[in-house]
Amino acid sequence: MSKIYLVGLGVKAGIQITLEAIQAIKRADKVYTIHSSDEFKQDIKKKYNDHLIDCASFFEGEKERADVFRKIAKTIIKEATENENIKIAFAVMGNPLFLVSACEYLIAAEEDYGISLEVISGVSTFDTVLSDLKIDVGYGASMYDATLFLSNNVVPVTNIPLLLFQIATTNNTILNKGDIPTSILQPLIEKLIVHYGAAHEVVFVTSSIHIFMTPKKIKIKLKDVLDSKEISLFDRPTLYVPPLKELYKVEGNYRITSLD
Ligand SMILES: C[S@@+](CC[C@H](N)C(=O)[O-])C[C@H]1O[C@@H](n2cnc3c(N)ncnc32)[C@H](O)[C@@H]1O
Repeated sequence: MSKIYLVGLGVKAGIQITLEAIQAIKRADKVYTIHSSDEFKQDIKKKYNDHLIDCASFFEGEKERADVFRKIAKTIIKEATENENIKIAFAVMGNPLFLVSACEYLIAAEEDYGISLEVISGVSTFDTVLSDLKIDVGYGASMYDATLFLSNNVVPVTNIPLLLFQIATTNNTILNKGDIPTSILQPLIEKLIVHYGAAHEVVFVTSSIHIFMTPKKIKIKLKDVLDSKEISLFDRPTLYVPPLKELYKVEGNYRITSLD
């Protein structure tokens, strides 16, 4: 039976890759990867597996994001079904089971195509954003893909932290090339203002993606977001909306806010 490893590479290129991920990559006959760092991809090829296929070529000539990810998943499935006992790794930034639709397609195909699939966790931006914000969301939180948050008329629970991912692709299914204007956030900001008020302060967080980068946090009132020159959606920030007031006290298990 062929085997597919969905491998998380971590967020900080090259220094958050786990020993488990390295082992899976080394063991694979072929490694497909989507990653923005050419240097890191070259490193993987040189150090761990020479049979590396950069999925950047799958984006060429395509318009819809979903088409690219379906194409990648179909290629991997085809390869896995046409070759007996082949081991294929699909290595992606962060955690493979955090907003990587090609991985979702592959998991959906697992049973239908009789392939064995294993997921190798990686440090996700979900982890790094929490570290950058220095918050523990274990006591209760909500998180959404920004487009889903809008389209499904989700009513936020305003007394727990809210994390909104994929804000740079809000209401957009087309592949982004180049700059993304902050104005695309208008429906999202309008909705947040209804629930939190215009003066509520939110944080745009961009975690460090390589060793020389420091995390970027832009604290800004909701009413000022659309006019901000500081926010760069090109950097793929995640939006943190702090709770209006905290509802955390549970006897014997409460959030610590001071040493006293
Ligand atoms: C396609 S998803 C991939 C997530 C990835 N698999 C993971 O585990 O982190 C991309 C989203 O992750 C978040 N993200 C990616 N890079 C980030 C960064 N450097 N800082 C903060 N959030 C980031 C953003 O919300 C972005 O829209």
